[in-house]
Amino acid sequence: MASNALVMPDLISQIKPDNIPQHIAIIMDGNGRWAKKRGMPRVVGHHSGVRSVREVTEAAAQAGVRYLTLYAFSTENWNRPPAEVTALMSLLVETIKGEIRDLNRNGVRLMAIGELESLPEATYNTLMEGLESTRDNTRITLVLALNYSSRWELARAARTLAQQAQSGHLNPSDIDEKVFESALATHGIPDPDLLIRTSGEARLSNFLLFQSAYAELYFTHVFWPDFGKNELYEAIINYQQRERRFGKTSEQIKT
Ligand code: FPP
Repeated sequence: MASNALVMPDLISQIKPDNIPQHIAIIMDGNGRWAKKRGMPRVVGHHSGVRSVREVTEAAAQAGVRYLTLYAFSTENWNRPPAEVTALMSLLVETIKGEIRDLNRNGVRLMAIGELESLPEATYNTLMEGLESTRDNTRITLVLALNYSSRWELARAARTLAQQAQSGHLNPSDIDEKVFESALATHGIPDPDLLIRTSGEARLSNFLLFQSAYAELYFTHVFWPDFGKNELYEAIINYQQRERRFGKTSEQIKT
């Protein structure tokens, strides 16, 4: 449970139901520092981070959010100490296996974006089981970004379209934003309306760069293991106070 969940009232009542972000993307950061602050190994922080994943997914579903994308493992995360990488991969297997029943009970559909084929076999196989078993759920879609980076995704999209053009299936002059989007790993998923990063860092770290063109950015100092239901609702309330102009003027938006 989030650290301040006991003292703060449930904030869901302050959320306007007619302006819920359809898609929230989160860069879950600060697990290592959370553990270090407590004199514990980094991996304990990752284990505690799973609790936040569970709480935030349920809270998002309760608020009516349709898509929640979590940056669980970036292409660059392979550069971490091998023991931490192994621990993260095992944690993913353990978590997905352990949560499938609850995901189904709560109507959560699991999806994944990233270079999934390069994941360790056990992680890949468990992930595929999770995707298959939850595919008919409709309450909320939980998208795990695994072995994901935007530059990988953008280069792959360019490669796919170039191959289609080379084989005569695509006219290069037909490539517009929509065609390009169709070659992304997120094809079919609406762009994030709100992108959250925890732990005080204020960068996008190669995450959903194309898709976040008009996302509202929200940075909080809270470490991921301390980010729970109320922290998510604070972010949504903050989002609802913003004016999204998509390049238009404020006056145009109000008319
Ligand atoms: C960032 O904290 C966290 C990660 C790179 C991994 C996130 C993984 C989980 C929360 C567990 C598994 C997730 C799912 C979806 C089942 P950090 O290690 O970069 O923290 P630091 O910046 O303090 O070092």
